[in-house]
Amino acid sequence: MPSVISPMLRSSDERRTTLHDHLAWWGLRHFTSDPEYFAWQRQHLSSDELAQLARLAEQKCEGSRADEIAFYDRTASPTIFPVLYSQRYEYYEELGCRVCGLLGSAEAILDFGCGPGILTTFYARQFPDKTFVGLDRSRASIELAQHMAGELGVANIRFECVDAEADALSGCYDLVIATHVLMQAEHDPGLPSLSWQTFERGHDPPQQSSFEQRTGLGVRLDRVCEVLRPHGRMIVSEKTRQLSRRVPFQRALSRRGFDLVGPPALVHYRTIEEAVDDGPLFLVHRGFQTSSSWDERPERDDGPPFVQDMAHSVSDPEKPLCENHWPSAQGVWEELQDRVVVHETTRQEPDGRQVHVERGTSGDFSYLYCANTFDQRQVVIDKRARSAMIDAYYQEIIRGLP
Ligand SMILES: C[S@@+](CC[C@H](N)C(=O)[O-])C[C@H]1O[C@@H](n2cnc3c(N)ncnc32)[C@H](O)[C@@H]1O
Repeated sequence: MPSVISPMLRSSDERRTTLHDHLAWWGLRHFTSDPEYFAWQRQHLSSDELAQLARLAEQKCEGSRADEIAFYDRTASPTIFPVLYSQRYEYYEELGCRVCGLLGSAEAILDFGCGPGILTTFYARQFPDKTFVGLDRSRASIELAQHMAGELGVANIRFECVDAEADALSGCYDLVIATHVLMQAEHDPGLPSLSWQTFERGHDPPQQSSFEQRTGLGVRLDRVCEVLRPHGRMIVSEKTRQLSRRVPFQRALSRRGFDLVGPPALVHYRTIEEAVDDGPLFLVHRGFQTSSSWDERPERDDGPPFVQDMAHSVSDPEKPLCENHWPSAQGVWEELQDRVVVHETTRQEPDGRQVHVERGTSGDFSYLYCANTFDQRQVVIDKRARSAMIDAYYQEIIRGLP
């Protein structure tokens, strides 16, 4: 029977299959069951090795450069890397395919912060006519990358050990791939909004510079810019799903002249023990006279709307008529008719965030609304006859505030 798969689909399916083979060659395994993964992990790593890795990972989170390098050096050990990197199997699968689709006509490509080169070697094998350089500051990762590229016999790839925080980069590239490398300080909450009533961020250069400095974003981006050709492109993806991190990240790109080439893509994958919503993945270019395309609004979400007709619906006695825990809760609250505030409080938390909690009425309804300057929103609406539930909820939240 003739195939009905379009050439486009077939090639992306083929690429995924090739990527699976490539990851298997690297010794990575795909697990859909956490217990199975942990049983496999225990067969390959001793409890001492696991304890040491856990300690190094914890120290890395504290953010010192030496601790970060020590962690990645250790993970590049031949017994450890297949086990540890298998946890991110779906990340490689997701990212590898997407990046291949974005390389376009670039000839000289830098994979900045390439780690042991798992994906860099894949890109190089997929595109033998392009030249790839993988760069990382973990010497052990680079040595592993060089060894594996040699084993694979890939000729169009080279690896360099450079710490971009300490030294300038060399070379000249049409395109830079920078994934999960530009921003350290994963726990940095980012920039708060101007107040609990808005998602907008002020334009405060010292605040932006402080964010770029504490996350290491500024220096890394500047280094990359120095080796990117005029009109060069970058593929970037960091843990910037929260608006408070996404906005200063986008502004860091924008202030260095980068604009979006296409719509950002959200990256979703499962690692061991968690489902991750990551990214967005941006394809950007520099040096074109375009008006800025950066969107600083929250993503569209699945929060339910509220319609007055809900009052006539048969309701579950355990549940309010409407409960929305997403940024869209702000729109629901703003559109409540004849809103009357019964109680409200606004507090400043020790970390500087502002929290607002409000209980009120809107016609035949009672509502509770919570909002803070890190984009969390919540609205709960019920019939007035059941306002005791809303009031209890309000009191509980107030008691929990600092
Ligand atoms: C989380 S890993 C990401 C690896 C790979 N890009 C990926 O997406 O799987 C971050 C890598 O960036 C490297 N790195 C971080 N800061 C760097 C710097 N200033 N210069 C060079 N490499 C750096 C680390 O050594 C590490 O291997």
